[in-house]
Amino acid sequence: MSEILKIKGLVKRYKELIAIDHLDLSVKEGEIFGLLGPNGSGKSTTINCILSLLEYDKGEIEIFGKPMSPKAYEIKKQIGIVPQDVAVYDSLTVYENIDFFCGLYIKDKETRRKYVQEAIDFVALNDFVKFKPNKLSGGLKRRLNIACGIAHKPKLIFFDEPTVAVDPQSRNKILEGIEQLRNNGATIIYTSHYMEEVEQLCDRILIIDKGHTIAEGTVDELKGMIKKSEIITIEVAGLDNTALDMVRESNNVYSVSYENNQLKVEAGAGKHNVIDIVNLLQDKGYKMKKIFSEQPTLNDVFLELTGKQLRDE
Ligand SMILES: Nc1ncnc2c1ncn2[C@@H]1O[C@H](COP(=O)(O)OP(=O)(O)O)[C@@H](O)[C@H]1O
Ligand SMILES: [Mg+2]
Repeated sequence: MSEILKIKGLVKRYKELIAIDHLDLSVKEGEIFGLLGPNGSGKSTTINCILSLLEYDKGEIEIFGKPMSPKAYEIKKQIGIVPQDVAVYDSLTVYENIDFFCGLYIKDKETRRKYVQEAIDFVALNDFVKFKPNKLSGGLKRRLNIACGIAHKPKLIFFDEPTVAVDPQSRNKILEGIEQLRNNGATIIYTSHYMEEVEQLCDRILIIDKGHTIAEGTVDELKGMIKKSEIITIEVAGLDNTALDMVRESNNVYSVSYENNQLKVEAGAGKHNVIDIVNLLQDKGYKMKKIFSEQPTLNDVFLELTGKQLRDE
């Protein structure tokens, strides 16, 4: 796979604040690449630097193998942008908005008409083409924003937090749509502070915090970077301290808590964690009810690598 986007040593300051601190990043053709970080970590700043919408202090940015610049029109026309804040014209209808953005890049009338219609179909706004944006719900407005960004069939598409303040149904539609765009041949860069979305959608993820790269890899690679690999929950009544100590001292276990008859055990990589603990409690005569085991989340990765929660809600 060829490299579509390459960033080396990107530095962006807002006065004293170093918003992006020597960021390296590489995205391959056909990937859905996730930029995951809490609010204020520098996701939008990174995107806006890549797109030459923002001047930066240092670094090199190449798109399609060529240096990106404010005047790199040949590159820009192959890029789609779905900005974090919905950016459409209130005075234009849904159709006119999509037509306007498409028309920035597609000059042939017939092609343009076809592309606009395909974008409308894609985000399912057919019933709303004559509406002005202020008559649309939040979710529909987001879909219009997406249609405006993708109508000209760009090869590389940036989605900056496209699901913030969107109802779950529209959110799923948006995520499905992004996968479809990739399946149709586009490369996607997707930013979010919702780890579940990024985990579900992205092939590779770069986690950032305060403009620094925290980690990069596939979901499995990221989860492999931390000690915790399994969280076991067992519903069991009346555990005494001796039993708790035995669990604590078991192979692989490094954290144990017990509250409201729920035993929670965090264990490192190992094959028999659940069986070992169940056997141990059974031997002591404890009756267990629900037992389940979970994988760590990207929040656990963030927590272990930075010492704080990724979640902010
Ligand atoms: N125009 C600006 N002027 C000054 N500081 C800014 C500006 N835009 C963003 N910042 C700061 O830069 C940091 C990164 O912001 P941003 O890129 O918007 O983060 P994210 O998109 O991850 O939420 C934050 O600390 C933010 O307050
Ligand atoms: Mg942002």
